[in-house]
Amino acid sequence: MERELRVSKIKDGTVIDHIEAGRALHVLRILGLTGAEGLTIAVVMNVPSQKLGKKDIVKVEGVALEEEQVSKIALIAPSATINIIKDYAVVEKVKVQVPALIEGLLKCANPNCITNQPREPVKSRFKVSSVRPLKLVCEYCGTELNQDDAIRQLTGGAA
Ligand code: CTP
Ligand code: ZN
Repeated sequence: MERELRVSKIKDGTVIDHIEAGRALHVLRILGLTGAEGLTIAVVMNVPSQKLGKKDIVKVEGVALEEEQVSKIALIAPSATINIIKDYAVVEKVKVQVPALIEGLLKCANPNCITNQPREPVKSRFKVSSVRPLKLVCEYCGTELNQDDAIRQLTGGAA
C-alpha cells in the first residue's frame, strides 16, 4: 500500500523544498503568487522530513526565481533548497544562504534611524548575528529585528 503523500513531478519550473514547516504560504507571498496568475502550483505543508522532522514544499510550473526572491526566502526559510526543473529533471539544486549582510531588503524598526530619514536616503544594512533563530542588527543604530519582524516585512502580513 502506498503510504506516502505524493505530489506530481513538474515538467519545467522551480521546486522549493525543505521549507521550515508552516512557512510555505510565506514563500508564495514572497514570490508574489496568489494562484490568480493561472500558473500550476503545488503547496505541501507539514509532511515528514528526515532532516527537519516536518517540512513544506512549494512547486511552481514555468517560473524561475530572481536573486532577490532567493535572498528573501533564505531569511524566512533558511533550510530551503531550490531545485530548477527542466524537462522533468533537476538541473540545478542550491541551498539558500543567509548572506552575512542584508542590504536594502528590510526596514529598520527605529523611526529615528538614519535609514528612515526621508531627506537623506541611506540603504538599510543589517548584520546577521544569528540564523536560527534569526537575529539581525541594524549597522547604523543597533536595533534588532527577529524572525517574526522579517516575516511581517517580507510578506506584508502576520508572522
Ligand atoms: N521534483 C519535482 N519534479 C521533478 C523533479 C523533482 O517536483 N520533475 C521535486 C521532488 O519531488 C523533490 C525536489 O523536486 O521535492 C527535489 O528533487 P530530487 O533532487 O530528485 O529529490 P531529493 O534527492 O529527495 O532531494 P534532496 O536531496 O534535496 O532532499
Ligand atoms: Zn537602524
